Amino acid sequence: MTRMDKRGRILSGMRPTGRLHLGNYLGALVNWVALQDDYECFYSVVDWHALTTGHDKTEGLTESIHEMVLDWLAAGLDPERSVLFVQSHVPQHAILHLLFSMVTPMSWLERNPTVKEMVRDLGLKENLSYGLIGYPVLQAADILVYKATTVPVGEDQLAHLELSREIARRFNHLYREVFPEPQAKLTETPLVLGTDGRKMSKSLNNTIGLSEDAETVTKKVRMMVTDPQKIRNGDPGRPEICPVFGLHKLVRKAQGADVEAGCRSGALGCVDCKTLLAGNLNASLEPLRERRRAYEKDASAVRDVLAEGDRRAAAAAEATLQDVRAAMNMSY
Ligand code: TRP
Ligand code: SF4
Repeated sequence: MTRMDKRGRILSGMRPTGRLHLGNYLGALVNWVALQDDYECFYSVVDWHALTTGHDKTEGLTESIHEMVLDWLAAGLDPERSVLFVQSHVPQHAILHLLFSMVTPMSWLERNPTVKEMVRDLGLKENLSYGLIGYPVLQAADILVYKATTVPVGEDQLAHLELSREIARRFNHLYREVFPEPQAKLTETPLVLGTDGRKMSKSLNNTIGLSEDAETVTKKVRMMVTDPQKIRNGDPGRPEICPVFGLHKLVRKAQGADVEAGCRSGALGCVDCKTLLAGNLNASLEPLRERRRAYEKDASAVRDVLAEGDRRAAAAAEATLQDVRAAMNMSY
């Protein structure tokens, strides 16, 4: 498909958190992979965004980027079709961020509920940095520097995206029409529960990693919490409160109905139920493991992918900046 046949241009970003887990995969990556068929896709490791809440934790950054991109490639992001790049390698983001910071009223930032939440969750009140309050302005630059039309994000990002649209509108109104108003593509983000029944999250230590081997995955599935009322084989269970059932539905939809019926009637025991899940999960992760192994064998492969992505991203971003400079009477 040539560019003209595509439905639009996608930009999305992920903070470099190192190896990814099933929650990251089922919640975001699967969608990113699917969108490659219909859109021109730019996917960014947003390392500057990581600094907005972690400027004092930079030791593992290089490793985190490398491991996360390995998981991107393993999941099926295809560097032939998509531009995979590192935000900080494309300085045009920073230039546009600076220009946007001139046209963005402070009041827009102060009322942003997502930033308010971050401040609350991280206990930042007095220490709210200039960088963090400007987080959504940087995100707007990430998106608009590619004139992206479509941004696949979860609900939690909607306030940020609304701000991107407001900044685009304001810029277009102040100078001239340069930017499209990017639309959110709210992909159904399933709640993926971890082994302890809480939301799967790295900080809760309840994850199943994309790159873990079959044995580890099986062991973790065996340790998962289940319906506490289902004690013996034959006891009826409540799949709706069981994280094992949740994963069954996400990993192999067709299995869901059988598991649900078996659990409710008591015919299916938890041990068998978990064995079934571990088998399905490992079968679906195997192609990812295989792709990861191929990239792991060649240490420079990931670096080459990113170098090419950085180059393609910078070319697209520079074209936009030329329009921006012209619109602002700054192409001296
Ligand atoms: N704010 C996003 C998050 O925390 C990451 C992000 C940065 C992003 N820039 C972006 C997402 C641009 C979409 C588009 O998940
Ligand atoms: Fe959970 Fe399966 Fe046990 Fe039902 S049978 S409680 S779904 S592990």
